[in-house]
Amino acid sequence: MSKETNNLLVLGIETSCDETAVAVVDSKRTIHAHNVLSQIDDHAEYGGVVPEIAARQHISGLDHLIRKTLLDADKTFNDLDAIAATTGPGLVGGLMVGVMTAKAIAAASGKPFVAVNHLEGHALTARLVEDIEFPYLLLLMSGGHCQLLATYGVGSYERLGSTIDDAAGEAFDKTAKLLGLPYPGGPAVERAAKDGNPDRFDLPTPLLGRPGCDFSFSGLKTAVRRTAEACVAERGALFPDDRADICAAFQQAMGRCIVDRLEKAIQIFRGKTGDKPMPLVVAGGVAANQYLRARIQDVAAANTMTFHAPPMALCTDNGAMIAWAGVERLVRDPTLDDQDVAPRPRWPLDESAAPKVGSGRKGPKA
Ligand code: KG4
Ligand code: ZN
Repeated sequence: MSKETNNLLVLGIETSCDETAVAVVDSKRTIHAHNVLSQIDDHAEYGGVVPEIAARQHISGLDHLIRKTLLDADKTFNDLDAIAATTGPGLVGGLMVGVMTAKAIAAASGKPFVAVNHLEGHALTARLVEDIEFPYLLLLMSGGHCQLLATYGVGSYERLGSTIDDAAGEAFDKTAKLLGLPYPGGPAVERAAKDGNPDRFDLPTPLLGRPGCDFSFSGLKTAVRRTAEACVAERGALFPDDRADICAAFQQAMGRCIVDRLEKAIQIFRGKTGDKPMPLVVAGGVAANQYLRARIQDVAAANTMTFHAPPMALCTDNGAMIAWAGVERLVRDPTLDDQDVAPRPRWPLDESAAPKVGSGRKGPKA
């Protein structure tokens, strides 16, 4: 390593799904620059991410975005201590674009390459924003994942629970699609729910009260479809108030499930780490949802846990979380260089936990 390890500067590249994102971050928690090129418009007409389109868009956008981000940060490749890229889990075409670009920059500039697990990026983002010590309980809710993880340190995670079918964001996206709302579904459902009556429809709360802290959302999605069909049968069409009421009921049911599972996870976590106050961290795109955040905050308060959630821009996919995970891994091992690590479409954070679901939008949800 050319510089002293007291302030490491890392370029982070994220291309695992439908955002091309690049950032420059240092180990003193300064985000020198971060840029996100969203592909939402390219996938919107398909109601979901099309892997082939995503990979092509990463190819056409990434070089330019790296140049812009370095310019914004007023840095050159020479100033960097390492280049980090999401190496999995995710769509393999996009992963290959990010990893090959990062490796090429690393090789050409004589810097190490750091292979970052996208989920670890989400898991550690709270430490980029605040001074949070390990261990903490992490609730990760994104488009491809829904997991509760005991986070003991960098690279050290124990999965306490996970979805057995759909991920939380996937449930939002599918609900939006069923109701004719735009993609991505999360923000659209949240907006529609604001004007809705959550008690008009009684949607199911899968696994509520069951032992353990796994999640299940596919029954909820099916109930949304049936409810929407019943509205159409009754009134001839799905009207804005129907949509708003279904979205509000969906969010309420989801909130109830999350609260119940979280309460269980806190008990399990306490059994492992003791009764002292611990941080509860939420991460992933669904953590941007204000209604769910408020429910989760209530659980934290009731259990004397401190609540931590990254700001919105760092909840959804971004390059800063990848650069920061790179920083954390380099601080732990200054000799790290992952030049020989290949993209991994499936890459669970807790390698010892058996997969709960075979495959999903971004690989295993388990
Ligand atoms: O973490 P993320 O950006 O990408 C993945 O790693 O998947 O999460 C994207 C997911 C999408 O499913 C999107 O609908 C959901 O996060 N999302 C939301 C909200 N904003 C984004 N879900 C609920 N409420 C929101 N406000
Ligand atoms: Zn993500």
